Amino acid sequence: MIILMKAKIVFSCQQCGYQSPKWLGKCPDCGQWNSLVEERAAQTPAQGRTTAGPPSSPARFSEIKLTKDDRFPTDLGELDRVLGGGVVAGSVVLVGGDPGIGKSTLLLQALQQVSRQGSKVLYVTGEESLQQVKLRGERLGADSSNLFILAETALETILEAAQSLKPRIIAIDSVQTMFTAQIPSAPGSIGQVREVAGQLMVHAKRTNTATFLIGHVTKEGAIAGPRVLEHIVDTVLYFEGDRGRSYRVLRSVKNRFGSTNEIGVFEMKGAGLEGVENPSELFLSERPMEVNGSVVVSSLEGTRPLLVELQALVSPSNLAMPRRMAIGVDSSRVSLLLAVLERRGGLHLQSQDVFVNVVGGMGLEEPAVDLGIVAAVASSFKERPIDPKTLVVGEVGLGGEIRAVHQPDWRLREAARMGFRRCVLPDRNLERLTDRHGLELTGVHHLREALGALLS
Ligand code: TYD
Ligand code: MG
Repeated sequence: MIILMKAKIVFSCQQCGYQSPKWLGKCPDCGQWNSLVEERAAQTPAQGRTTAGPPSSPARFSEIKLTKDDRFPTDLGELDRVLGGGVVAGSVVLVGGDPGIGKSTLLLQALQQVSRQGSKVLYVTGEESLQQVKLRGERLGADSSNLFILAETALETILEAAQSLKPRIIAIDSVQTMFTAQIPSAPGSIGQVREVAGQLMVHAKRTNTATFLIGHVTKEGAIAGPRVLEHIVDTVLYFEGDRGRSYRVLRSVKNRFGSTNEIGVFEMKGAGLEGVENPSELFLSERPMEVNGSVVVSSLEGTRPLLVELQALVSPSNLAMPRRMAIGVDSSRVSLLLAVLERRGGLHLQSQDVFVNVVGGMGLEEPAVDLGIVAAVASSFKERPIDPKTLVVGEVGLGGEIRAVHQPDWRLREAARMGFRRCVLPDRNLERLTDRHGLELTGVHHLREALGALLS
């Protein structure tokens, strides 16, 4: 019997990777319009492509031997911290971020540091010429003879080069510019990106080469198309920051070899990125003293309790629907807290515009900053400043109750280190505290009590 093999055609959503045998106007998975593009499915059989090494058989749990992660530092302390204590050999790390934020700079610097330790490293660029990389490298002080640059976009050539060079780390800048001949669709399409990443993954595991993939982010904030990559790779890092400011935050959102939510803070200088070991100092450096509506809150980023200034401005509105704007904190969370402040705190905010801003462009997600938001709004509304050496922590419930936060000890230690004198915190936390860290501590269990303690 003869079976005629027809090249299989699929339609893939360029946004989320959804695949359909026929074209659709709207992706049923992510709801994006006009995002399905015709692609030819890979010719190679799907099986065995993603498993590295010899075929495996079931193993007894008790007989599985633990091997220690083969980790090495990059000597960029902040990057090592985010990775969980250095680069793991054979791991694949996706680094996402806006164009121009400093992804190429970060990786070139990291590679340069590792090459200084005596291992060969390979930086593959699909976006810049060798000269451009050289110029950048010179700014960064790169001089190692173990640093190899390859300007190439064909995956097969890259893998060949890697096989002969045997580098310890490969950086691919960027994964969207690379293509493999096995798939006919254009570079940057979801099929290409997935296939390229898949093959690099196999290469990484087989040869124990740590691999960094740079990915660009779309306006929507997702790594363009290759959000699918987040599932394949071992670690996903996002590089973020205001382009108008010099500091950058590297955040881990997935890490198979360390904790997530860990952050690294860098400052972009004339000669590259410099780690910031004391971020609280940076975030509080321009703090005005004794101004209404300003308060310092503590946000736990991984293992780091950062102190950040939060500001609120409340001013009478002449709109029928007063404005409520929040930057750096979730707007719906702010609306909710304003309602609690009205009903449980007795503040009349209906006819007021309310603006809340996290100074320095940090994004705060922890509920532990609730009480800080509420206090800043009340301080601006009542025109009473909050003591600048007081830290405010606590989650606010709908009943106006103040709920306990995680790791109060870490936060207090950081506050003491930064020269704070006092902390207003949930009663429940205070009861269980073992060390006061030399601070004057005021435990509160209701919103009214907290505002009384802060604004008197
Ligand atoms: P880049 O690493 O090219 O960003 P990405 O790869 O994420 O697109 O960084 C570009 C910006 O960084 C550019 O605006 C110039 C700035 N920069 C410095 O300020 N100092 C430096 O030493 C370098 C290399 C770049
Ligand atoms: Mg770049």
